[in-house]
Amino acid sequence: MNKEIFFEFPSAIMTLAEIIAYKRFEANADHPLYKNGFVSLNQIFDDVCDFSPVDQHIRNPYCKVNVYSEKTLSNLAEAIIENDEIRENLQAAYGMKFSVDFIYSSQIASIPTQDSERPFYANEFHRDMLFSSNVVKLFIALEDIDQTQGPTEWISKEESQKIVGIGVRRAEIKEHINDTFSFSRKKGQACLLNPHTNIHKAGIPEPGKFRSQLMVQLNPYMDWAINKDLYKRQFHREPNLPLLRNFGLRKPQVGRF
Ligand SMILES: [Fe+2]
Repeated sequence: MNKEIFFEFPSAIMTLAEIIAYKRFEANADHPLYKNGFVSLNQIFDDVCDFSPVDQHIRNPYCKVNVYSEKTLSNLAEAIIENDEIRENLQAAYGMKFSVDFIYSSQIASIPTQDSERPFYANEFHRDMLFSSNVVKLFIALEDIDQTQGPTEWISKEESQKIVGIGVRRAEIKEHINDTFSFSRKKGQACLLNPHTNIHKAGIPEPGKFRSQLMVQLNPYMDWAINKDLYKRQFHREPNLPLLRNFGLRKPQVGRF
């Protein structure tokens, strides 16, 4: 039996609760971010942000996490909130404002074949469960990423819905996938992706290759906001259940927009 079916209920409740609590604007179901579940951005982040880590910590033999200073994280979060293109995409697609709730930057390495089925860094096709259908992730390339470096891969919302609809188990998803989109980009380029509606995974770099990328988790909120725990959170696994977990932790960017 597909165990993920048990997570659909809390996800549907969270989706509805966010819509009731935070939806203030007309949403456009034909907006590419909503319709397809992803959109590429024109903004080049390398020009507006410093992504130099102050440290790196080893999560496992194939993944190093870049640790940023409080100042770097808050500058990046502010740059995201102040970015017209990001706000316009999110608001048009979902009719809501969003909060920057988690920033995660990592460098991944190749995984030897005998270990490649083990999930060292989300390297098997999945959807992010225990999130609503309104969660969006911003990906930023921290270097030029080509196909040999294991770019993030995903499929469209429509294809994902078909696979979810027929109850395919996580381990078997790859057998149902033909074409994927990939986050193969130049340094500083970015895209928005809904990780709950769109099946995705981290690619695995070829032997001897690495890939550096930054990910930002964005969840609906009453105002454009920044989570106060960004610094602390970078040392831990990605937080789920944002509606519950972020209670009292967001600082609205009042009066800015
Ligand atoms: Fe994921």
